[in-house]
Amino acid sequence: MIETSVITIQPATNLVGSIRVPGDKSISHRYAMLAAIAEGKTRLTNFSTGADCASTVQCVEELGCKVTKKDGVIEIEGQGLALSAPSRPLDCGNSGSTMRMLSGILAGQSFSSKMFGDESLSRRPMQRVMVPLTAMGAKIEASEGGRPPLTIHGTRLKPIDYVLPVASAQVKSAVLLAGLFADGETWVEEPLRTRDHTEVAIRSFGGEIKKSKNRIGISGGQTLKGIDAHVPGDISSAAFFLCAAALFPDSNLVIDTLLLNPTRAVLLDVMNAMGAKVKVLNLEEHNGELVGTVSVEPGNLKGIKMSGAQTAALIDEVPVLAAIAPYTQRGIEIRDAKELRVKETDRIAALCANLRAMGAEVQEFEDGLLVPGNQKLHGAQIDSMGDHRIAMAFAVAALRAEGPSEIHGAEAARISFPEFFSLLQQLTAN
Ligand code: S3P
Repeated sequence: MIETSVITIQPATNLVGSIRVPGDKSISHRYAMLAAIAEGKTRLTNFSTGADCASTVQCVEELGCKVTKKDGVIEIEGQGLALSAPSRPLDCGNSGSTMRMLSGILAGQSFSSKMFGDESLSRRPMQRVMVPLTAMGAKIEASEGGRPPLTIHGTRLKPIDYVLPVASAQVKSAVLLAGLFADGETWVEEPLRTRDHTEVAIRSFGGEIKKSKNRIGISGGQTLKGIDAHVPGDISSAAFFLCAAALFPDSNLVIDTLLLNPTRAVLLDVMNAMGAKVKVLNLEEHNGELVGTVSVEPGNLKGIKMSGAQTAALIDEVPVLAAIAPYTQRGIEIRDAKELRVKETDRIAALCANLRAMGAEVQEFEDGLLVPGNQKLHGAQIDSMGDHRIAMAFAVAALRAEGPSEIHGAEAARISFPEFFSLLQQLTAN
């Protein structure tokens, strides 16, 4: 049991500094899983320091992969497509990514395995991966309503052609990973573009991915080869500092070696559209992923209305955008964000409750929220509801409030970004 902690955030006047952030969570999960089913060794630097990715690494160890961690390098010995049966249920902790994506790999094994998670993960919907994987031939048992724990009886899989009913990179990834174990070609069609790290990573592990507009294809039985890679900085973690810096006229923030894959960097366009001055320098490609340096100089933040594909691309950044919304001139409206209701907590409800606690006016919709601009907030007692992005978003909101705020359940930040509060302190100590 983890102790809940309270962190006090004092109002700030700017964010100044040049930093790096730990490796991207989405890419770290994928590299660890692909490393497990590749042949040979994978060596990773700047692997995510978050507890979610540690859950994935622990699962691949339980599935028979030797893992060593030394001097900031994590090495995973791959076993090829056939993993070893785990001796006990796999603990996915708080990580929906671990459970959903790993289910694609477990569906193709010759053994049965069980995955479980913490209280929050135990409430999250798994039907979305059960449906396509069952169509491929796996037998999956879940709790009522398709909730964890999941028991997956692996088998030789059949290929499918699957249209995703929800825009979800995790579901797309589960199907593509299962496709590696199918006899023939598996196709996934996405209604809206989602992060493509699985496709990019499979290619960099030597696999072949086909693409045709919004359709992605993969052939079964391919051999993957271990890689040496540096995981680029997590842009969804950097987002908290980028948005915080944009709130103050004399901020000056530089973040280098940051992931800038176009499916993940939409926040930068949105910030520029809102009037912040975000610049990208030194763009390079590492293992198929764009990486670069981002600098933020403030401007007057106007506000924005987001929906459809833009919301889907920014789903993990909605909490911090909502948290800075009261300080924009015209406010921020976010629609088509119903998925937020089934994240680590109901993020729409958590955003509205905490914004109101700080004295903000906010309108809640089933699929989003509207936060009018030009509001003055006061420091308040914030409840993270055990959700890492809520804890960090309200630390940012607290920087421009009048008076200190206390973030209850601040330790949730460890899920994706354990260094968040100390980096925030460093950047605001001017
Ligand atoms: C992720 C996809 C998104 C995102 C999550 C990470 C991934 O979830 O919110 O934090 O790494 O593929 P969905 O697939 O549920 O949209």
